[in-house]
Amino acid sequence: MKASYLSPAVGQYILAHSTQPDDLLDELAAETQQVAGSNAGMLISPDQGRFLTMITQLVRPELAVEVGTFTGYSSLCIARGLSGGRLRCFDVSEEWTSIARKYWEKAGVAARITLTLGPATESLRAMEDRIALAFIDADKTNYPAYYELVMERLRPGGVVLVDNTLWDGYVADPSYEDDMTRTIREFNDLVMNDPRVTSVMLPIGDGLTMIRKN
Ligand SMILES: C[S@@+](CC[C@H](N)C(=O)[O-])C[C@H]1O[C@@H](n2cnc3c(N)ncnc32)[C@H](O)[C@@H]1O
Repeated sequence: MKASYLSPAVGQYILAHSTQPDDLLDELAAETQQVAGSNAGMLISPDQGRFLTMITQLVRPELAVEVGTFTGYSSLCIARGLSGGRLRCFDVSEEWTSIARKYWEKAGVAARITLTLGPATESLRAMEDRIALAFIDADKTNYPAYYELVMERLRPGGVVLVDNTLWDGYVADPSYEDDMTRTIREFNDLVMNDPRVTSVMLPIGDGLTMIRKN
């Protein structure tokens, strides 16, 4: 269970009462566990996956963007929600994303996805297209840069989702003063004080902030 800031019983109840992942998502999670070991903890949670698909279905983006693809769980959830649009994925790892490619093929969504390898700040800077939906889930120190680069390209009414914004709940505990907790707190403050957007922090997975450009 990723929502470690909730009591285990509540966290399990939420997972049990959200639509369950299908066999392909379970297979992808199991392969990630086998290949990536403790790094498999980087995957979004199953309820976040369902949420990504639903938001994609609601926004109906012409172009969605994912920053941080790993082995493909979240990108598969976004791609499955598309109705005619495209998904551009950014990551630095050939190794992890080769697994993602395999599952995009298995799910029949590979033709809708373009993957660019390299630092995502550079890849985003090179983009000229208008973004309607973005999911940010890569290296946390670059969150402010990813956010700004996405915002510059996001259409009004467009939506940005950002993962790990509750950081195991440490953000709300003043006794945690380590660099990563501070980085996430600063990012949360940045979004909160951005007059361009309306935002809400959702306590699913490790915390998911949903941001709408006004
Ligand atoms: C938390 S994982 C993403 C998990 C994925 N969203 C999922 O749930 O299926 C973070 C990913 O960000 C990638 N990453 C790290 N630094 C990056 C950078 N500078 N540019 C692009 N991707 C980066 C890593 O290779 C890793 O695959």
